[in-house]
Amino acid sequence: MSDDIVRYEVKDEVAFVQMNRPDKLNALSVKLADALSDTWARFEDDPLAKVAILTGAGRAFCAGADIGGGRPKDDMRIPWAIRVHRAYPQNGVTVFKPIIGAVHGYALGGGWALAVRGCDITIAGESAMFGFPESRVGISIPPIDYLPYVPFKASLEFMLLAWNGGEMLDARRAHEMGMVNRVVPDADLMNEAIRWAEMLKKIPPMYTKAVKYGHYKAVESKTVRDEREYLNFIWPQEVSEDSREGRHAFKEKREPRFKGR
Ligand code: COA
Repeated sequence: MSDDIVRYEVKDEVAFVQMNRPDKLNALSVKLADALSDTWARFEDDPLAKVAILTGAGRAFCAGADIGGGRPKDDMRIPWAIRVHRAYPQNGVTVFKPIIGAVHGYALGGGWALAVRGCDITIAGESAMFGFPESRVGISIPPIDYLPYVPFKASLEFMLLAWNGGEMLDARRAHEMGMVNRVVPDADLMNEAIRWAEMLKKIPPMYTKAVKYGHYKAVESKTVRDEREYLNFIWPQEVSEDSREGRHAFKEKREPRFKGR
């Protein structure tokens, strides 16, 4: 596999997608989030791939948004946290093919959202630790709830208390709360994910598409919808050449020359 920040390899109709920033526990930098978003588009269009398995390189699945390196200066028109959220399938890119998360080690904050909200099926290795440390590290959140994915009390417990030194959820507790589909020893994690992929491969794609469409539509909160609409419609306009050209043309008192990008 390559040194790319997201590795993508298709074998027997299964796309193996791996976040590859192990030295930072696969924390979601803008670069990693953008690369993941591009990868979901690639997977959805790839005629050779029917199912994807998402993993993290190294000792963690993903330690959430990158809180170490400062905020990117290249594009401050989109709130940083929202840009990072483009990493989740269904948010940045709509994916109708099935995605399995094979989770080991930390899956925190945005990493949790990738594993649980972003993947259709989540298989946890016994080492998996799920947490939501946002409150403790200065990350602002919208008034969101994770009720579609977790029961009411569990959602409150998770969002308020699952931080390092509070009570993160181990794989079994996350399973009990309905966040993950199966827990297996770490040594069996990939084989179990592949076993599920083999089953999912046998379902007609249009059937899967209908099931996914129905499920994600049913759980879509206003916060999630607003964010997705911003990401899919407003932000692409804001960063487009045409938007820049419109502003320049106005200043230069000439007709704009739009290129459609
Ligand atoms: N953003 C940026 N860097 C991160 C990171 C994150 N979210 N999480 C871990 N890292 C980096 C660490 O800074 C460290 O880098 P360094 O070796 O250059 O110092 C490296 O990853 C390994 O992490 P470390 O803290 O040494 O590992 P640990 O096993 O002692 O602790 C965690 C692991 C996950 C408990 C701890 O790293 C942590 O609390 N991370 C922040 C989690 C977070 O708040 N995420 C945001 C939620 S959206």
